[in-house]
Formats: sequence, C-alpha cells, structure tokens
Amino acid sequence: MKKSSHLQAVSKKPEGQPTRGKTASNRLRRVDNFILLYEPSLLTRTDDRFADALFVDLGYGFDPRTTLESAARFRRLNPNLKILGVEIDKERVEAALPFADEKTFFRLGGFNLPLLEGESVRLIRAFNVLRQYEEKDFAPAYERLAHYILPGGLMIEGTSNPFGSIWAANAARKMEDGSWKMEALVFSTNFRLGFDVEEFQTILPKNLIHRVVPGEAIYDFFEAWKRAAAETAAAKAYGARQWFGAAAQSLARRGYKVNLQKKWLSKGWLIWERD
Ligand SMILES: C[S@@+](CC[C@H](N)C(=O)[O-])C[C@H]1O[C@@H](n2cnc3c(N)ncnc32)[C@H](O)[C@@H]1O
Repeated sequence: MKKSSHLQAVSKKPEGQPTRGKTASNRLRRVDNFILLYEPSLLTRTDDRFADALFVDLGYGFDPRTTLESAARFRRLNPNLKILGVEIDKERVEAALPFADEKTFFRLGGFNLPLLEGESVRLIRAFNVLRQYEEKDFAPAYERLAHYILPGGLMIEGTSNPFGSIWAANAARKMEDGSWKMEALVFSTNFRLGFDVEEFQTILPKNLIHRVVPGEAIYDFFEAWKRAAAETAAAKAYGARQWFGAAAQSLARRGYKVNLQKKWLSKGWLIWERD
C-alpha cells in the first residue's frame, strides 16, 4: 500500500470523533499481560480463518508506542501475528507509518474498521477511547466493532489511569451465531496505589461509569465490594495484595461470580464473570 492510501479511509468515512491522543510507554502492559494469561490461544490459533487474523489496536493515540509494545509482547508467542493500529486522526497515522512493516499496519479509520478485502480480526483492544464519548455512543460502537471479529474472538475495551497502574475493562466475546456477549468485567491493579475499591469506580468503562446509582447492578456490585473490603480490612496488615484477595473471597461469598484463582488475585486482577 502506498503511504497516501493508508491516510485515506480504506472504505468509508471513519465513524467516531477525534479525541485527545494522550498515551504513555507501557501504559497498557498489564492489559497485554492479562490477555496473555486469560487466553493465549487468541493470539496463536490458526484454525478456520484465524491463521492470518489481525490483532487490532483501536485508537492508539498520538504515537503508536503501545501498539509496538504489544507487538513485541504478543510476537514472543506468535512471531507471525499481524497487527493493525487504527486511528481516526490523520496526523497520528502519519506519525505511525514509519513503524509499519510487512506484518504491522497503521491505517486511518474508526469504529468501521479499515480492513482490506479478506482480512479478519481475532482480537480488538480499545483502551481510553470510548471514555471520551457519550454513553449513547457506546452500544453502536460495540455493535459495529463486534461485527468484524471472528466467532470465538474477543474485544477488550476499557479505561486506565495515565500510567496504567489501574484499569477496568469489558471483555466482549463474539459468538458462533454472530452475536456478541459481555463475558467479563475485569479490574486490574498493580497495587502501587494500594487497594481502594472507590478508585475503580472512577475508571469504569463508558457503559457503566454513569450507572453507579441505586437500582443499577454495577451500584450493587460496588456496594458489595466495598462491604467485602471493610469486612476483610484486617488482611491489610499483610499488604494490599492480600487484602484484595481476601475481599474477592468475601465478594464471592456474597454471591458474585468472581474468579478466585490465585493466578488472577495475586497479580491484581479481579474478574467478574457475567452470565
Ligand atoms: C487517549 S488516546 C488512547 C491511546 C492509547 N490507546 C492508550 O490507552 O494510551 C485515544 C485515541 O483514540 C482515538 N480515537 C477516538 N475515537 C476513535 C475511533 N472511533 N476510531 C479510531 N480512533 C479513535 C483518538 O484520536 C485518540 O488518539
């Protein structure tokens, strides 16, 4: 592809709106590490149409550092993985093009992904993108993006703080019948900020952040998590990590389907599995 053609949307006008492009080195490292632990086969599978399927990083920001960092991490597992960085801002595509190669692409696009004929998608990561939209834009964006994902593929969409030390994300699965479902709501902390349930409220994905009000399921979840944290506060003496794990156990006892495997809790991931 010639440089000029990367800067024209591959098909139609990009859907969405340009937003602030702030990013930071290694901001999304824990998102990548989560994917590597949650479902490494997402990156390696070659069945059906997955052989050449892309990992899409939607809205990589003013430069493609997080896309390139993910490329390095994911290609340790699958050296042939094809990666597409998508930006709605022309200058940001231009900034990224010097880093393109035969398996790393950068294109101008929006929620209507700029795919070439025959291309398919195994995984979409969209981080700190929808937070700058309105809540009403959330569902159409998900519908549009999910359309491109192969059955069995995943989208992880969420919000982090500036350095990625805490984040929250939806994991949405594309189903065999072409529909998609919310599989999990994932909370992540590297414990640098200690453990404070309320911190997670401030970085909820767009579909939830305005919904922490009585009568909403996410409100009940946070109330239960706060009570669980209060009830297990003695564990704080052993550190934030232990407290986080103890609170998760208590949350599960309250009937929430949280994954209690040590590999998640000890590393600061709380996975609320949705039905
Ligand atoms: C805050 S930056 C996030 C950068 C990086 N993902 C991160 O988390 O550090 C958000 C970027 O998303 C881009 N963006 C917003 N809406 C978009 C859309 N519909 N399609 C593609 N990019 C979009 C903006 O242009 C901006 O550069």
